[in-house]
Amino acid sequence: MDQEPNFQRLRREFPVLDRKTYLNSGSYCALANEVKAAFEAYMEDRLLVGANWDVWVAKNESVRALTAALLHAAPDEIAVTASVSAGLNALASALQFSGPRNKVVISDFEFPTNAQIWHAQEPRGARVVHVPRAADGYIPLESFAKAIDEQTQLVAITHVCFRNGAKLDIPGIVRLARAKGARVLLDCYQSVGSINIDVKALDVDFAAGGMLKYLLGTAGIGFLYVRDSIIESLVPSNSGWFAQADIGAMDITANRPAPSARRFEAGTPAVVNCYAAEAGLKLLLAVGTPAIERRNYALTRRCMQRLEEIGWPSITPLANERRGATVAVPSRDSGGLCRELGKRDIVVSNRDDNVRASFHFYNDESDVESFIASMR
Ligand SMILES: Cc1ncc(COP(=O)(O)O)c(C=O)c1O
Repeated sequence: MDQEPNFQRLRREFPVLDRKTYLNSGSYCALANEVKAAFEAYMEDRLLVGANWDVWVAKNESVRALTAALLHAAPDEIAVTASVSAGLNALASALQFSGPRNKVVISDFEFPTNAQIWHAQEPRGARVVHVPRAADGYIPLESFAKAIDEQTQLVAITHVCFRNGAKLDIPGIVRLARAKGARVLLDCYQSVGSINIDVKALDVDFAAGGMLKYLLGTAGIGFLYVRDSIIESLVPSNSGWFAQADIGAMDITANRPAPSARRFEAGTPAVVNCYAAEAGLKLLLAVGTPAIERRNYALTRRCMQRLEEIGWPSITPLANERRGATVAVPSRDSGGLCRELGKRDIVVSNRDDNVRASFHFYNDESDVESFIASMR
């Protein structure tokens, strides 16, 4: 095992942790000093240079390269998008649903955008099938096996469920999809940065996420990974000048998409967001996702054990293979509980009937204990 990073020193780079028990990275990360400095560097550029396009385009490319390194992909396989939704819409616009392979399989664990965008393809011929959760709240592989067939074009699934913190069996689902000739899109927004993700090892065709949660950046910037061997077979009709092979050509006679995943982009990059995303990704990669994963599994496990001890067990599965960095705790009034915890400086969020405590490497055992003490 690699030597563990100095997490206590890293923790001091996130000033909010001096004031709050911040367990909300599944919603929006804590801000690091380095990311704040990156925002300020952008403001300096604007104040003192005005328009600094060469630097700005380089920042966007840096975000692409860092995202590729994070996912174990190549930079040409990464589109830097405005959001997960923007990436999925570009992808959907490149798919055809008029033939017999018109089925999109999603699960009951999806974040709304990864369901709504596929339902939005129904007028184009798509058939969207939901894989339901079982009585124990999880979605077993057998349920996916029933849904994925020769008519399935795409299996579009979340990695970790934003409602309950459960992680799906992605290798198993990919095997089922491959056996039927279907492609797999992984919505990894609730996992990327909190656990180690290797898109090649997972063998997914597409992966989408964004920078504001575990990637330590900001809202308004995300990514879409597209496997290199299929990029050129996909021509998005959601497009724009930054998606063209030659952005500088300013050609108004034709659509000539980039040969890389950049064809899934659209217009001017969100420059200020690139500054923040670059700083966040650099910090995250320096800490290292294998070490972050070990820490998050340890913290979430401890939190779940402590919840058991106080008689308020979480509904998140305990096994590492079935869990990310979020612990979901059921409540009759999750909104009210969230507000009460907020009054005690415990920052969590609520979804459905659950309060979500999501951990990152900057949290420690004292955060677990503060949360438990307030819950008690
Ligand atoms: C799993 C998941 N997918 C997608 C999204 C939304 O992505 P965006 O707002 O970038 O479209 C979220 C946001 O919380 C999410 O948790």
